[in-house]
Amino acid sequence: MNHATFIHRCLLLAQQGRGKVGINPMVGSVLVRNDEIIAQAHHEGFGLPHAERSLLESIEGSIKPDDVLYVNLEPCCHQGKTPPCTDIIIKKGIKHVVYGMKDPNLEVLGKGIEALRKAGIDVVGPVLPELCQRLNRGFISLQKNGRPYITLKHAQTRSGEISKPDGSPLKITSQEQDEWSHSYLRARHDAILVGAGTVITDDPQLTVRLKNKNLEQSLTLRIVLDPNSSIPKDAQIMGEGTLLINKEKKDCDQPREHPFVGADVIQEKGVMAEEVPVKNGVFDWESLWKVLTTPKDNFNGITSILVEGGAKTWDVFKKAGMIDEEVWLVGK
Ligand SMILES: NC(=O)c1ccc[n+]([C@@H]2O[C@H](COP(=O)([O-])OP(=O)(O)OC[C@H]3O[C@@H](n4cnc5c(N)ncnc54)[C@H](OP(=O)(O)O)[C@@H]3O)[C@@H](O)[C@H]2O)c1
Repeated sequence: MNHATFIHRCLLLAQQGRGKVGINPMVGSVLVRNDEIIAQAHHEGFGLPHAERSLLESIEGSIKPDDVLYVNLEPCCHQGKTPPCTDIIIKKGIKHVVYGMKDPNLEVLGKGIEALRKAGIDVVGPVLPELCQRLNRGFISLQKNGRPYITLKHAQTRSGEISKPDGSPLKITSQEQDEWSHSYLRARHDAILVGAGTVITDDPQLTVRLKNKNLEQSLTLRIVLDPNSSIPKDAQIMGEGTLLINKEKKDCDQPREHPFVGADVIQEKGVMAEEVPVKNGVFDWESLWKVLTTPKDNFNGITSILVEGGAKTWDVFKKAGMIDEEVWLVGK
């Protein structure tokens, strides 16, 4: 039996949860009988059943002794929003489990595997751990570093320009580069982040509109770091799926020029807005991560961010060491 093939299938299913599972991991699961997939499921949304529980609850008929359950993340063994997956795996009579990577959540980390083995289940893994970790790098970062996974994306010309000399926008990348970055950068992060300067100068849409048609619909959030509420109300980004980060009212020296953080504008445009304290001229990192990774109302949190600029914003992230990966697109 080729374990890698079925873990691959779990990863493809897992990806369908991007943008829907919030701060949870993306997980897919398949049940294999005689080398064929007879059932499959993925974690469909924050607070909803885990992949292996959904799969096992949907199974009609009995589990056979040689059936193998595949899942890209170690099954959980703790009571969270849903009961432990190890319980249903044991109860349903599964005898073989193959997993992709251990769960970095300290409440699980190996204990799920241990619980299954204690119940007499044959557990094999990790299988394709690097690929599994790559998919859930945001979830891992949140568990280990307490913040989302951060990728900085820059575009510059061969001579190093990022905009025209007067600061006005300069088209740098080709259509092909744009399609690649929409499909493989924007669509593969939970959020795209820019500073207020970029919205004021470029008025970008920051949507995933040029993606490869085989990719899932993306629900990528747009975040603007706008401490002084200085971006225009009619900017293209002002709409549903945008989160504005403003500084706390008590930190404002004078009344805001564009006080769009009022309930009327939020309702009219459908944007979300949060206030975060400023420390040494920039948003306090701990408070910022708390806002972005704590589920609240209909926001389920994010685990990965693509920082698209501009120069001041890149600089602040770099100086603070808030960077896991950097991508440079060099245009004409
Ligand atoms: N080539 C590329 O890849 C690319 C990408 C994007 C933009 N650009 C270009 O970059 C230029 C804009 O860059 P920019 O450096 O002027 O502006 P920016 O980086 O887009 O925005 C800077 C502003 O955002 C706010 N900000 C950013 N990080 C913050 C933090 N951690 N805490 C608090 N506030 C924060 C501050 O607002 P306040 O000023 O209110 O304090 C800051 O002045 C434009 O010319 C645009 O065309 C190029």
